[in-house]
Amino acid sequence: MRTRTVYRCQACGRAEPRWAGRCAGCGEWHTLVEELEARSARQGGRPGTHAPPGDRSAARPTPITDVEDDEAARLVTGLSEFDRVMGGGIVPGSATLVGGDPGIGKSTLLMQVAGRLCGQGAAVLYVSGEESARQTRLRGRRLGVEAGSLLVYAETRLEAVQLEVERLAPAALVIDSIQTLATDALDSAPGSVGQVRETAARLVRLAKAGGPAVFLVGHVTKEGAIAGPRVVEHMVDTVLYFEGDRGHPYRILRAVKNRFGSTNEIGVFEMKDRGLDEVANPSELFLSERPADAAGSAVVASLEGSRPVLVEVQALVGHATYGTPRRTTIGVDPNRVALLVAVLEKAADVTLVAQDVFVKVAGGVKLSEPAIDLALIAALASSVRDRPLDPETLVFGEVGLSGEVRAVAQAELRLREGAKLGFTRAVLPRGNARRLVEAAGLEIVGVRDVSE
Ligand code: TYD
Ligand code: MG
Repeated sequence: MRTRTVYRCQACGRAEPRWAGRCAGCGEWHTLVEELEARSARQGGRPGTHAPPGDRSAARPTPITDVEDDEAARLVTGLSEFDRVMGGGIVPGSATLVGGDPGIGKSTLLMQVAGRLCGQGAAVLYVSGEESARQTRLRGRRLGVEAGSLLVYAETRLEAVQLEVERLAPAALVIDSIQTLATDALDSAPGSVGQVRETAARLVRLAKAGGPAVFLVGHVTKEGAIAGPRVVEHMVDTVLYFEGDRGHPYRILRAVKNRFGSTNEIGVFEMKDRGLDEVANPSELFLSERPADAAGSAVVASLEGSRPVLVEVQALVGHATYGTPRRTTIGVDPNRVALLVAVLEKAADVTLVAQDVFVKVAGGVKLSEPAIDLALIAALASSVRDRPLDPETLVFGEVGLSGEVRAVAQAELRLREGAKLGFTRAVLPRGNARRLVEAAGLEIVGVRDVSE
């Protein structure tokens, strides 16, 4: 039976029987998205993970002490960088979104995860809408994944996938990718906001109703044209983003949402010709190509989730050749750099107005923690003065607008990581230095403001 669908404006909620480029209600452009009518009427136009009317009795109020906790039941893949980001393994019946740029390695990662699960005797259904079963097989061979319990299914119809999940009852289901999947209930094309939202919502429901742990691959797309992973972020339990520079072999798996673990946990991998290798000590990797005695380079101890990671930040300040000076950053927010440049100008009495400023985080890493501020300042100052920093010195601290250096969390953890990699000195906020219980054998230089 086919349900009626409507096109609902995402801005004002108005429903139209047919698609139009512009909403007749509020006048907004490109806001109409196809939805199932029955559901949209009841839920105010927001399809989500709610149970349909017939399923209402599936859950019962239960004493909290009688509710099964999933901790013991987690599926541990043994791919420890992945397990840690997931919060200690995969929770059965959970839904995870794995987002990232095309070609970054999402399929590779999930194929390896599937291989590990199969190696433990679990069955995994790998639905590939992007590649043929044969191509998937070739990838599997390259990755050394040859298990018979890994079922490859080249299908793009949601209904067909649902049937197979019922029939096979796999422990995990991989949808590669959500943008290729479509339900017969909607007329919209695969990859449209309506399809992505509806298919994802149904798969999440499938997972919650005692189904498999579901992994949805989502390509990050240019906004507008087709629906990106953001559309499903609120429906799933865990959102992972796979990042990295295509030019670099390093890949970082980051949890931006996790109902079953800490967010901002990262896993570091290296893409090799036989798949992704875990990087147990990322600091060592990120610092391995650091130039000796070069001006404009500083090493920061940044906290990524529960783990400190040492990364090199580089700055290059030079005379602007044409008109407006450039401010280019890779791996850090350009606004933050602009702000720090202003702080540095004021505090150290240097003029950067007419200078080009380039800032880069080495190794394709992206840093967002405030504790990197002081290292950015140090790298900028070092480039301006053309004086290299001591290569065995570590820098971290948050910088305020008046140039004050503020304390950051987990200073000891950062210092310990530095000591492990042979650093002998650390420049850090005085607020941290005062409260330090142990310095991990490093010489500590506490600073209160940028001019120091
Ligand atoms: P892929 O997992 O297909 O990316 P996504 O699913 O995110 O689009 O990875 C694609 C890239 O990874 C491709 O450029 C080839 C490279 N690659 C390797 O370097 N080694 C390997 O073992 C595999 C399988 C892929
Ligand atoms: Mg892929």
